[in-house]
Order: sequence, then C-alpha cells, then structure tokens
Amino acid sequence: MTTESKQELLGYQSYSIQKNLKYFKPTKTTTTATFAEEIRNTLQFAKKSISPKFFYDESGSKLFDEICLLPEYYPYNAETEILQKIEKKLLPYLSEEFHLVELGSGSSVKTRILIDVLLKSQKHLQYFPIDISEILDQSAKNLCNDYPNLTVTGVVDTFENGLDFIENYDDKPNLITFLGSSFGNFEKSAGITFLKKISSLMKSSDLFLIGLDLKKDQKILHNAYNDTQNTTAKFNLNVLKRINKELGADFDLENFEHHAVYDEQKGRIEMYLRSLSEQSVTIPKSDLSITFSKDELIHTENSHKFSTLEIESLLKESNFEKLEISKLPELEQYMLHKLYCLNENFNKNYKKY
Ligand code: AVI
Repeated sequence: MTTESKQELLGYQSYSIQKNLKYFKPTKTTTTATFAEEIRNTLQFAKKSISPKFFYDESGSKLFDEICLLPEYYPYNAETEILQKIEKKLLPYLSEEFHLVELGSGSSVKTRILIDVLLKSQKHLQYFPIDISEILDQSAKNLCNDYPNLTVTGVVDTFENGLDFIENYDDKPNLITFLGSSFGNFEKSAGITFLKKISSLMKSSDLFLIGLDLKKDQKILHNAYNDTQNTTAKFNLNVLKRINKELGADFDLENFEHHAVYDEQKGRIEMYLRSLSEQSVTIPKSDLSITFSKDELIHTENSHKFSTLEIESLLKESNFEKLEISKLPELEQYMLHKLYCLNENFNKNYKKY
C-alpha cells in the first residue's frame, strides 16, 4: 500500500503544492469546539480567559516573529545559539535515515540549522511540520527551493493527531522537535500527559529534542514579556482584534491593556488583558454579551520556567531516559535518551537591560 493510501485510510487527504512540497489534512471534521464555542466557554464566567492557541492568526504569527527579534526576548537567540553548538553532539545519533518532525511550524532559521545537521549524515531529508494552522506558507516554499534534497510534508492537525500520523507513516527513525519553550505554555498536568503521549509513540530509534526555558532573574523575565517597543502588548491585544474580525465582536482595543507578571510560586509568567474601564462587549457569533469591571483581567497565557531539578522529574514521569553528552557551562545542555533537552539560560545578557 502506498503511503498516500495508508494515510487516506487514516482519514487524511493529501494536497500537492509543488514538487517536494505537499500536505495532509484530516478529511473528517473533528469534534473539537469551534473558535466561537471556545470563546463563549472561556469568557462567559466570572473568571475570564482566552486560550493562547488563538494568538496565532496571520497578524499574531507575524507579531510573534517580531517578538523573537526583540533584544529582551532572550529565548529565541538562546535557543538558536544552542542549536548552532549542538551539531557535533547530535551527529553521532543521526547515523540512519532520519525524518525531521517539528511540532509547531517553527521559524525557518532554527529549522534550517537542524536541516543542515541532518543533511550532513544523509543525502535526502523528509521534513514534517505539524501545525493546526495552515503552515505551508512562503517559508515552506523557500525551504524547498533552497534545499533540493528536502521534501516537506506538512500535517495540518493537532500535535497529538499529527504524532499519530507520523507513527503510522513509515519505519524510519524520527527526530521530533518541540522548540522555543512552547512546552511552557501547557498547564502542568496537560504537559506531562503530552510528553507521555510522545514517549509512548516513539520508536526506540526516535529522538526527541525539546527547548525549555530555565528559571532566571525575575527582571530578565519581566523585560522579556514587557518589551519597550510594546510588541508583546500588540501580540496580546491582537487576540481581541481577531475576535472582532472573526466573531463580529466590538472589543474597543483602547479600553484594554497588556499586563504580564512573574508568579514566583508557580514559576511562570502570567499574561492578561486588563479592562481599563467598566464596559460591555458583545460577541455575536458566540451569542454572548459580557460586562467588565474596571481593572478586571482576561487571562491569556502562562509561560512556565523550569529548574533543572523540575526538568529531571518531568522527564522521569513521562518515561524519558537521559543520555548526557555534554554540559556547556553557560547553556546547561543535556542529551537525553530519546530526548535532547535544551535548557535556555541566558543570564549573561541580563546586564544589557
Ligand atoms: C510561544 N511561546 C513559547 C511564547 C512564550 O514565551 O511563552 C509566546 C509568547 N508570549 C509572549 N511572548 C512570547
């Protein structure tokens, strides 16, 4: 049976975009709540929230790319620097013909570093970005044009379903990556469930590479989420713009402000939108009218930071074994069996801000 027909049986339809570039999309409509339903469910009660997954419409994704270029947002540069340094350590584990699987479509810069490493040990590479949003944009086309020995096969689905898709794809080993400390946006128990799912799906020859942000000086954390150019504020407020555009709501963006604080006890940055006055908002497509009191908060994101001890127990709990290859003093780098864990610690940049 061809891979295509196998995946069609699993409920996926393949779309060919150009030579070396195709994607798979589920044909069945899933039972997950729609945007309008989820917004209704999370804004109708006294404690209001909006899931961070809704940040990433086209404008939100562009704003996130801008965040990554901010001098205060250290995780992006830290992780890029780590990836550039791991090549020699990673190569010995990549002797066979690996696929590159990326959870989240990622920025092409980091993906390119890994593609370059993998193409040193193999002639051809198949890259599978998994993302619920339409991922096959110009950057995927550019990748295909720049790497003649690369095939991009996008999976437009949730991470969990995408991993099931990969598991059933073929027998080749996968280097699965989850970068940018996106894991930090999970709630604790959901994060462990997710890691357990990954470890249970992995073949013994698979590797998992994850980027996690370490706990650090609170001033560095504060500045990373309260930048002087207000890009993070625009990113946060953009979710209201999206609700206005897609659900016909009448949020007045001038009447809300960005608020991000580090909760030391919970070890996480918490992001909110604060209502600047008493006001009411209607969201027609969610069939919802809501009122806000002055200073009322909408919770929009948690970004967990980890201690090395917490990382160790997280990995143990989710059945990953550690394969240590090296420790770079300032980057605290670990190689883990099945899991290559990058701890971003960029305190050396602190003095700049
Ligand atoms: C995508 N995620 C890991 C980012 C973070 O740092 O939690 C999203 C972000 N929120 C504000 N700035 C960046």
